[in-house]
Amino acid sequence: MVSAAPAASQRHNLGPIEQLPIGEGRMFLVGHVPVAVFRTRSGQVYATQALCTHKGGPLADGIIGGQTLVCPLHAYKFNLSTGQPIGHECKALKTYPLSVSEDGDILLTISTRFQSGEDAASSVASADIASPSLGRD
Ligand code: FES
Repeated sequence: MVSAAPAASQRHNLGPIEQLPIGEGRMFLVGHVPVAVFRTRSGQVYATQALCTHKGGPLADGIIGGQTLVCPLHAYKFNLSTGQPIGHECKALKTYPLSVSEDGDILLTISTRFQSGEDAASSVASADIASPSLGRD
């Protein structure tokens, strides 16, 4: 019997939480993986893949309400916590565990498998990541 080795993961410091306005998202490039990080109005922070599973919309530019993310392109909804689609049949978003340090830095944990781009390519297939969104500045 062959069992798969557990995927290694690595924690990344994405910088101060203050760079992320309340109620908005920002895109970060973590290794080769584009990740959208969101700060809800209630102060919770979530991370998902950067591009929508429907047609590659830039999720960091989406609207968030509670734990619901609304894609800016066609308004499909996803659960920020689980990545599950809400009311449609698109594939769930990848989500990444993160926390905020005592110093107020965003700490994101991502599998080294994702960082190498092994799965990143499939999660952003057919989407344009050449000009990633940096938010609504
Ligand atoms: S690209 Fe996100 S809903 Fe269509």
